[in-house]
Amino acid sequence: MRYWNSALPHDVAEAEVTYALVPASWGRGHATEGAAAALAFGFLDGGLSEVVGVAREANLASLRVMEKLGMSFVGTRFCYGAELVEYELTAAARGSGAVAAPL
Ligand SMILES: CC(C)(COP(=O)(O)OP(=O)(O)OC[C@H]1O[C@@H](n2cnc3c(N)ncnc32)[C@H](O)[C@@H]1OP(=O)(O)O)[C@@H](O)C(=O)NCCC(=O)NCCS
Repeated sequence: MRYWNSALPHDVAEAEVTYALVPASWGRGHATEGAAAALAFGFLDGGLSEVVGVAREANLASLRVMEKLGMSFVGTRFCYGAELVEYELTAAARGSGAVAAPL
């Protein structure tokens, strides 16, 4: 999970989960595992009520990671200079067991 600071673009005001790995490590579940840990930290230690994620519609791997995290499709949203697909996860939904257990 990345908390924006002034050195980074910040088109999304909410807490946002994002991930990027070197290609050699793709396809092993690392993004999902790392993001799940980040979400656990954000909700349990950070007290967040909601986390969002955005990705290009063609980025099927990223969309799949958000689905595996238990995030829900919201719609499309213009940010970072493009129309992106938005997902969200609320603390309530996470608490209901909709998302993988914290690591
Ligand atoms: C997106 C990214 C972080 C995924 O990392 P990863 O470690 O491979 O992700 P995971 O292994 O946890 O999960 C990937 C899932 O996407 C699926 N997937 C991968 N490519 C896919 C494709 N072309 N079509 C459909 N599903 C695809 C995988 O099968 C896997 O799902 P599964 O577990 O149900 O089989 C990685 O591809 C990446 O760093 N990409 C470049 C940066 C980027 O685009 N970041 C996201 C910005 S929004």
